[in-house]
Amino acid sequence: MLLKTVFFLVSAACSTTLGSGLEPQIPSVASFTPSHGAFELSSVVQIVVDSKHASHGTPSLLDFANTFRDDLKDVVSYLGIVPVSLSPNIPGITLGIPTIYLTLDTSSKYNLYNGEPTDEGYNLVVTPSSVTIKSSAPLGVWWGTRTLLQQAALQLSKGVPSVSFPAGDIHDSPGWEVRGFMLDAGRHWYETTFLSDLCIYASFFKLNEIHLHASDNLWNPAFLYGDGNEGWKNLYAAFRFQPPAGSSLEGLVPRKNESWTKNKFLQMQGTCAKHGVTIIPEIDTPGHSLVFNQWKPELMEAGAPDHLNLSHPDTIPTIKSVWDEFLPWFSAPEVSIGADEYDAALADDYISFVNTMAAHITSTARKSIRIWGTREPSNTLSISPNVTIQHWDFPGDTISVQLLASGYRVINSEQAFLYLDGKTSDGGQFPQTLDEDLLWGARWAPNVFSATDPSNNTRADAPGLRGALFALWNDWGNNATTALEAYYQLARSAAVFGEKAWAGSGVRSTELSRAQFDAAYLPLNAAAPGQNLNRVVRPAHGDVVFAHATPPRPSLDTGVPSVGPPYTLAFRVQPDAHDPGAGVLFAGIDSKLHVANLTFEATGQLYALGYVLPTDRFTSVEIHATREYTYAVIDDEAHPRYWYTLMDIWGEYMALGNMSFAAPSQHIGGEGFKGTIRDVMLTLGA
Ligand SMILES: *[C@@H]1O[C@H](CO)[C@@H](O)[C@H](O)[C@H]1NC(C)=O
Ligand SMILES: *[C@@H]1O[C@H](CO)[C@@H](O)[C@H](O)[C@H]1NC(C)=O
Ligand SMILES: *[C@@H]1O[C@H](CO)[C@@H](O)[C@H](O)[C@H]1NC(C)=O
Ligand SMILES: *[C@@H]1O[C@H](CO)[C@@H](O)[C@H](O)[C@H]1NC(C)=O
Ligand SMILES: *[C@@H]1O[C@H](CO)[C@@H](O)[C@H](O)[C@H]1NC(C)=O
Ligand SMILES: *[C@@H]1O[C@H](CO)[C@@H](O)[C@H](O)[C@H]1NC(C)=O
Ligand SMILES: *[C@@H]1O[C@H](CO)[C@@H](O)[C@H](O)[C@H]1NC(C)=O
Repeated sequence: MLLKTVFFLVSAACSTTLGSGLEPQIPSVASFTPSHGAFELSSVVQIVVDSKHASHGTPSLLDFANTFRDDLKDVVSYLGIVPVSLSPNIPGITLGIPTIYLTLDTSSKYNLYNGEPTDEGYNLVVTPSSVTIKSSAPLGVWWGTRTLLQQAALQLSKGVPSVSFPAGDIHDSPGWEVRGFMLDAGRHWYETTFLSDLCIYASFFKLNEIHLHASDNLWNPAFLYGDGNEGWKNLYAAFRFQPPAGSSLEGLVPRKNESWTKNKFLQMQGTCAKHGVTIIPEIDTPGHSLVFNQWKPELMEAGAPDHLNLSHPDTIPTIKSVWDEFLPWFSAPEVSIGADEYDAALADDYISFVNTMAAHITSTARKSIRIWGTREPSNTLSISPNVTIQHWDFPGDTISVQLLASGYRVINSEQAFLYLDGKTSDGGQFPQTLDEDLLWGARWAPNVFSATDPSNNTRADAPGLRGALFALWNDWGNNATTALEAYYQLARSAAVFGEKAWAGSGVRSTELSRAQFDAAYLPLNAAAPGQNLNRVVRPAHGDVVFAHATPPRPSLDTGVPSVGPPYTLAFRVQPDAHDPGAGVLFAGIDSKLHVANLTFEATGQLYALGYVLPTDRFTSVEIHATREYTYAVIDDEAHPRYWYTLMDIWGEYMALGNMSFAAPSQHIGGEGFKGTIRDVMLTLGA
């Protein structure tokens, strides 16, 4: 019975033919040799995992296969049940069921551009009856599944009724080992669920690392260095790993609501690993250390509340004890100890601190360490060559070509190409998303450190050049951006970076042109499976998500957790005269709208519109939101009122910024709201 259906669907699907080429995807694949025919992805397909290797690795080949199955169903909505089974060989031909076969070949060899072996390469062979993805390790197979999913997504975006993979042979592997981004989670709080979604998203573009900057403080000289007012005690500083109850480290995390419990962290780290993404945690010392000094003021360097005094006998034991507590949480083979922007005059103290921590972390946890690039003007000591240096600054760092020449391993995070700042940057120093004119124009790749002076750049195959990480900083703290606004800054940047860090610039003939990238990005962003950071909803009727003329009181659950911009939320409201400021008008998983002052709440922060609703009549409110702003039109007012944040820029001036909020769409009314809400309509489009 089943087999008959299968044959029918296969032959029906054969009428769809596409060209013999692959759709240009992100990142580009290294090579594709076409052969004859195509693999038609009919509604019945099976995934078969080579039983000899199914349990190989953590995550195992079978784990990756199960995630792939869910993703395939997510991207190709016409698929029925997609079974995952085990077999020692490809069974598809004999059974007649189109088969995607995942296997390992430990004799396969893939190399990075510098010649070092990598397990991230894969071979994808498409015949009319099967697709075989093969690598030396499960991670390489995982990246092969991303290639297949992207081909499917790109075809479907062109309106074809079903997917047809051109027969042929793809060989692909990354040019560099380190590909990803740093997120400043020290100055801005993020939930682990959001971080998990970011990993899942980044993985679609074959990024393999998220570097989590997990401790830091705002930088504001009036607070830090103001005359004897001890303002440093009140400047925002945070450490995100929550010590267990009763631990001697509890004082390090006074705001428990802005810290990750071990369970939540491990869950997030595991989700990331299941998508091929390694979380590289960073605890930043001995600079950027206000949070440690707020906890133990005796460790402070006199006159520099954000620096640790490395000569104090308790400093290094304290920092070691912090790492000892949290190292067992981390599954990455390496961690970052930060180590940026410390006193040049204390170079020897700094260098011996770095080397002491490297030795400690290696001996207790068998992990190696990274530090940010910092010039160490010492004639007597030098950083251990086992420490990877993450370059970010000319001329503050020792020049990377010199570091590489002296045998250090280097990661490129050069700020001129790769730094972003949340919402705004001082004097326009950094863009909101990676500057694509610059990246394409300068033919940026991990081996490019300078747009103007080629002597600072290396060859793509330079030994020791490990790859690159771009960085999203949060210099203006928690209230400058929502978590989703951080995603809006990262989304397209992650994709363009995925191409550059996997393939490079000017190495392979198959690299994407800028036009090819532009054409592929939007459909791939829309199709990226496993998360819904765009907060897309698909209304049953046109653009109307819901309409409720008289929603029941006290609260209506609409079943729609959140809706991403652009949207319009229109309603009429009359607060209760006895308790006009109580409760919320709308609430969702990403935001709430409080009746008091029409205040939006997102990521734990409050943004008041400053409008007080009258209690003697209904007011009509229309909220319009895009990824750049949210505003309200109230009654017949001629001017829209924007929701703003006010950012303190280095303590020098205050800057207004617009806020983008997802629609608080799950509940209408609640949390003590006693007035009347009417004529609610949520539509897509602003
Ligand atoms: C660092 O601590 C040592 C030992 O307590 C102390 O003698 C020294 O003055 C401190 N240095 C600074 C700059 O705070
Ligand atoms: C570097 O690491 C290796 C292997 O862990 C170790 O034997 C060596 O002593 C380290 N070198 C330095 C300078 O720390
Ligand atoms: C490149 O390196 C040279 C020294 O070799 C330096 O003078 C120059 O300023 C560097 N910076 C950039 C951005 O190229
Ligand atoms: C509304 O905002 C004003 C200042 O903008 C503030 O004084 C007032 O307390 C707020 N009211 C409520 C109910 O939050
Ligand atoms: C955590 O609690 C503090 C103090 O009550 C508050 O200021 C902050 O906004 C809260 N953070 C979040 C994310 O809710
Ligand atoms: C955001 O936080 C800064 C401190 O970093 C503060 O000065 C500003 O008033 C806050 N803005 C809002 C809208 O709460
Ligand atoms: C907010 O967005 C509007 C519409 O784009 C713009 O006109 C306005 O200048 C923005 N305000 C700020 C403070 O950026």
